Amino acid sequence: MTEAAFTPRVFSGIQPSGNLTLGNYLGAVKRFVEMQNSGIETIYCVVDMHAITVWQDPEALRRQTRELTAAYLACGLDPKKSILFNQSQVSAHAELGWLFNCVARLGWMNRMTQFKDKAGKNAEKMSLGLYAYPSLMAADILAYKATHVPVGEDQKQHVELTRDIANKFNHDFKTNFFPEPEPIIDGAGTRVMSLRDGSKKMSKSDPSDMSRINMTDDADAIAKKIRKAKTDPEPLPDNMDGLADRPEARNLINIYAGISGQTPAEVLTEVAGQQFGQFKPLLADLAVAHLAPIADEMGRLMADPAEIDRILGDGANRAAEIAEPILADAYDIVGMIRSR
Ligand code: AMP
Ligand code: TRP
Repeated sequence: MTEAAFTPRVFSGIQPSGNLTLGNYLGAVKRFVEMQNSGIETIYCVVDMHAITVWQDPEALRRQTRELTAAYLACGLDPKKSILFNQSQVSAHAELGWLFNCVARLGWMNRMTQFKDKAGKNAEKMSLGLYAYPSLMAADILAYKATHVPVGEDQKQHVELTRDIANKFNHDFKTNFFPEPEPIIDGAGTRVMSLRDGSKKMSKSDPSDMSRINMTDDADAIAKKIRKAKTDPEPLPDNMDGLADRPEARNLINIYAGISGQTPAEVLTEVAGQQFGQFKPLLADLAVAHLAPIADEMGRLMADPAEIDRILGDGANRAAEIAEPILADAYDIVGMIRSR
């Protein structure tokens, strides 16, 4: 089955499980906006059903779902150009997810590194949902027969699993119903690291707020976090090889490149020889100039939660119109009687 047989369609999602970080922005949302503006059909989801695979306080979940939607809008996603909605309003995700639970193999799930990272030594105490989560993610994507999935580096394995699920479904039922979607992972921001430890990814769930830049941080907070970011005493090199063993320095250069839209090598030609005492204020100014207007716009949008809910409801109706016929065909292929 070649992909050419499927209309290009982009799907991606982010969990409303806390503050949106600069990592989410550079690894995901910034590229969601670029793809939207390239004219291809784009569907972006707030994956609330994924968020509850670990405990979420109900009031906090509601607020974070609206906040993430506000962030999508403030970063430039446009509900007239993209479909924007929250996952739980379109039941096709859960239903197709069940079909895929019966296609995916336990052995495949056991290889998922994100589950191992999140569960640590406590696997027995994790929810069944956290374990089955990649199968729901496959359903998110394939309920729309999406062909392209922009994500950060950490989601590559899950998109590959989605391809395996599509492939096994097609093989088992002797069909070519589902496409095998491509992960789109490019640019300098695909793996933004913690500001405190260059070997850990920047994450919403890191206990240290100093480890990340939140999209809601004000100018002072952004400048302070960059000033205190871990670095080394060496000046910046003039080429990428010079960053090989300097993860913290590499991360700050990558962040600069991700925000400015340059390649890391281009940034180095401009800042080679600088000490961090010089470079950090440049990075702070760039980050503040870019992120502060987004935070302001988020604040403005959050003042009208009813309007956010309206946008999500409208997006969910449009999403359901695409997903429901695909789900109905999938049920039919599997052999379910549909006589209502
Ligand atoms: P999550 O916050 O886990 O729902 O992730 C949402 C999207 O942001 C996914 O595409 C992730 O790959 C991406 N992402 C999360 N953290 C980072 C990071 N530190 N660097 C780059 N991309 C990230
Ligand atoms: N698993 C993704 C994450 O944690 C979020 C996600 C859920 C997703 N469903 C998706 C991403 C479908 C892309 C496509 O970051």
